[in-house]
Amino acid sequence: MTLYDLLKLFAFRLDAETAHGLGHRLLEAIQGTPLERVVADHYTVVDSRLRVETLGQSFPNPIGVAAGFDKNATAPSALAALGFGHVEVGGVTAEPQAGNPRPRLFRLPEDGALINRLGFNNDGADVIGERLERTDCPVPVGVNIGKSKSTPNEDAEEDYLYTFERVGSGEYFAVNVSSPNTPGLRALQERDRLASILRTLSEAGADPLLVKLSPDLTEAAVEDALGVVDDLDLAGVIATNTTTDRPPWLRGTHADEAGGLSGEPIEDESTGRIRFIAERTEKPIVGVGGVSDAAGAYEKIRSGASLVQLYTGLVYEGPSIARDINRGLLERLERDGFDSIEQAIGVDV
Ligand SMILES: Cc1cc2nc3c(=O)[nH]c(=O)nc-3n(C[C@H](O)[C@H](O)[C@H](O)COP(=O)(O)O)c2cc1C
Repeated sequence: MTLYDLLKLFAFRLDAETAHGLGHRLLEAIQGTPLERVVADHYTVVDSRLRVETLGQSFPNPIGVAAGFDKNATAPSALAALGFGHVEVGGVTAEPQAGNPRPRLFRLPEDGALINRLGFNNDGADVIGERLERTDCPVPVGVNIGKSKSTPNEDAEEDYLYTFERVGSGEYFAVNVSSPNTPGLRALQERDRLASILRTLSEAGADPLLVKLSPDLTEAAVEDALGVVDDLDLAGVIATNTTTDRPPWLRGTHADEAGGLSGEPIEDESTGRIRFIAERTEKPIVGVGGVSDAAGAYEKIRSGASLVQLYTGLVYEGPSIARDINRGLLERLERDGFDSIEQAIGVDV
């Protein structure tokens, strides 16, 4: 039993969002203190074979924190100290938002899953933009941009643009049109709407710009989105967000809660999507969905992901997850005769 297993006995008795808040406050408390260095020494795997050059950046390892964990960009460098190679902060919206009424985050421990319907609760682009300008983080920080709930879909361009203009100090920008928790948002994945939003941001200088897709899109809709990425010569794709599907075999008592399902139940679907996308584009893919160990991360990389992100795995496996995955990746590289992780990207495609 690890220390985190013990901690979980306590934390999992709390409401999931309360527990997340406590964990996050702990990260904020160590950030910028001498303890951060101690934590970094404990969790960071330094090995040049893990380095990935993509999106115009140098990532010290392929494992990043997915959007939603550090919504307000208050702990990126503490997360880097846990050994992550990048942190995607946000979703940030133009307006500060309270999100949906609580409870709105649920654990399904039997399934290694979460269901959330947070609804883009965040401090808003003005505050987060200023925070990012003061942020000093040793790994790349991407910014996930969502649409304010009060902005109708027809005005989405201005809303995304407002946010981008304030969070421009990020190292990449992810347009989130795939959250199931803002009514109507996913309709913006339709080809013309998507093209219009992405063109607006691209012309405003958002670079590198990626689009984050829902696992619930049809294959034809994914191909449409890839067409837009190619037409506008965008940087890449993030696959995938959470799903509104509920596999019938879920065992968690909260399986019927409304919202987006993440974690182990979406792992294979997400990896399949990555492979589908990799078969159709040379653009870098950021793979996300259900990763909780080195085997899962390696499978996503071999299926075409240049970088891998996780959120739910961090909740269940705890603060050592990035270190454990990075160590496991090195073992797999040696086993399979690769000199670097970059050589393994897409070998199964
Ligand atoms: C509580 C929670 C909040 C999230 N918030 C966002 C968000 O604001 N923007 C976004 O693009 N994805 C968000 N996500 C989706 C994750 O970034 C990720 O795509 C998804 O959870 C699948 O990865 P996982 O199985 O490793 O959790 C959120 C996920 C969770 C669990």
